[in-house]
Amino acid sequence: MRLPENFIQEVVERTDIEELIGHYVTLKRAGANLVGLCPFHSEKTPSFTVTPSKSMFYCFGCHAGGTAITFVQKAENLEFADAVEFLANRIGLPMPRESADSIRDAGVPRKRVLEMNLEAAKFFRACLFDPRYGSPGMAYLKEERGLSEATIRHFGLGFAPEGFGMLTDHMHRLGFRDEELQTAFLCGKSRNTGASYDYFRNRVIFPIIDPAGNIVAFGGRVMDDSKPKYLNTSDTPAFRKSNHLFALNFARTCCAEQMILCEGYMDVIALHAAGFPYAVATLGTAITPNHARIFARYTKKVIISYDADEAGQNAAKKAMQVLGEVGMDVRVLRLTGAKDPDEYIRKFGADRFRRVLDESRTGFEYQLEGVLGKYRLEEGAEKIRASGELCQVIASYPSAVEREVYLAQAAARLELPAEVLRNSVQRIRDQQQAELRRSRSREAQASIKHFGDRINPESAKEPRAAAVEERVLGMLLLFGEYRQAVASGEVALSADDFITDFHRRVFEELLRLQDSPSGFRPELLGETFGPDEMGRIQKMEVERQGMSENGPEVFRSAIAALREVRKQKEAQKGDLNTQLAYLREKKAKLHKGKVDRT
Ligand code: GTP
Ligand code: MN
Repeated sequence: MRLPENFIQEVVERTDIEELIGHYVTLKRAGANLVGLCPFHSEKTPSFTVTPSKSMFYCFGCHAGGTAITFVQKAENLEFADAVEFLANRIGLPMPRESADSIRDAGVPRKRVLEMNLEAAKFFRACLFDPRYGSPGMAYLKEERGLSEATIRHFGLGFAPEGFGMLTDHMHRLGFRDEELQTAFLCGKSRNTGASYDYFRNRVIFPIIDPAGNIVAFGGRVMDDSKPKYLNTSDTPAFRKSNHLFALNFARTCCAEQMILCEGYMDVIALHAAGFPYAVATLGTAITPNHARIFARYTKKVIISYDADEAGQNAAKKAMQVLGEVGMDVRVLRLTGAKDPDEYIRKFGADRFRRVLDESRTGFEYQLEGVLGKYRLEEGAEKIRASGELCQVIASYPSAVEREVYLAQAAARLELPAEVLRNSVQRIRDQQQAELRRSRSREAQASIKHFGDRINPESAKEPRAAAVEERVLGMLLLFGEYRQAVASGEVALSADDFITDFHRRVFEELLRLQDSPSGFRPELLGETFGPDEMGRIQKMEVERQGMSENGPEVFRSAIAALREVRKQKEAQKGDLNTQLAYLREKKAKLHKGKVDRT
């Protein structure tokens, strides 16, 4: 069965690649990446890297690389679809039923989904305020969760009654058809009869509203401990989880200075009610680079306030990194005495939360406290270990200014001269640089042996063409703007411009995905290309990323070079006259160049 694209995407988005690969490889942090010994070839110095922010892995030694799915394919020796299932099982995501995926997206326009959502939200709200249906929901929200009626109204909360047909009947009366309701995830489809039934039942409803005021999705919570705690709208033509933040519609006007990022809907609601209307939450997923870009658009500083448990704190570290990569000022709250911000405010009040907020620490301070808390500094050996660990942390910051600031802080806390720490940070950085150079040269040596290339056999015959093609594809893989420019025809480049078959296929697939409804997602390449091919594709991307210049001129000149190679080849294939014509043209060009220059 062919898996729906948005399911594959969801599996990859919800998989923590660092945690996944950590089960197979011991990983150490090195800047934005993690490194370890490659599980796919034998090596003594680590050239295997994982980049959590891009959900990718790549080995500079053997060029294995790709997404979490590729990793599982290789490590567990599975076919693509089985690897997706393996990952889905790990995160407890049910596999889609075949009938379901043919309905979703059945050509229902976004606007229509938004109309349905608006009507459904009105219905849910009416139910909540109607004692005949909504009293259990109202009692839960007010008594158990301590929400005021004003807060309930402000957030447009609702209630989905028990039973399978109330919303469905209501929506039918308003003229919405079954396929539309199912596409919007408001209704499920009965396995036996194919009829629609209410998707949310006996749950309190949290509408999710985008900054433009559209109701794009719903979350529905049970009122007891049954499972699943939340049901959320899956992807629809109007909604992609990784594109939205809960309560951004309220936060957007008061968040220029700072935003608070929480885990749960209830945390956000409690914070808004307590006077912190710049709190938002992701929608039941880990924060993605896409979310980070949304934050960067709205604010300067993000204060992460996740749950106090270990899972929450680990997630906070991840979030810190993902947000740090878009240049945000990131801080982390560690709340003590309560499991999450919602409980904290109910127990200790808004004023105390505001104090904690004002004292929130920078990402480095947070890590500093974490390390210092682990050791007894009065003991020499432990102090040495603590300073060793802190130097590793400091060395991972690319900015020299930041490193200096943190050095001073760490030195003060450890009661050591900054100079000593500075030397050791420098040593760590030198080692990292040397390792990088070594792996680059290993890679260069490996690439000399182009012959016997199983993935792209033509590269032995056509080394020049293959190299130029790699340059072009690398840029297309890295930059959506270039893919868009090619897909729209703004930049002329077609499959015929490619000489080697493998690269042509990669190009065609890139374009196909770019034009598909869910857009280009690297994991979708895995459906067409095997794990070894994925490694090669990853290599093209990583190598381009290592180049300092990838601007539009470089892109255009790479395409021009590609054309040139092809023309030359065609000339060589042609009869004597074509060859002569080509040579003459080339000579004229050269001559013209000379004339121009003088
Ligand atoms: P309370 O237990 O009511 O305080 O919920 P919460 O909003 O604080 O949620 P929690 O911290 O347990 O989880 C954080 C977020 O993860 C929730 O707001 C949901 O978006 C999401 N989530 C939690 N449980 C589930 C679940 O069972 N299924 C799905 N799809 N999402 C969930
Ligand atoms: Mn909670």
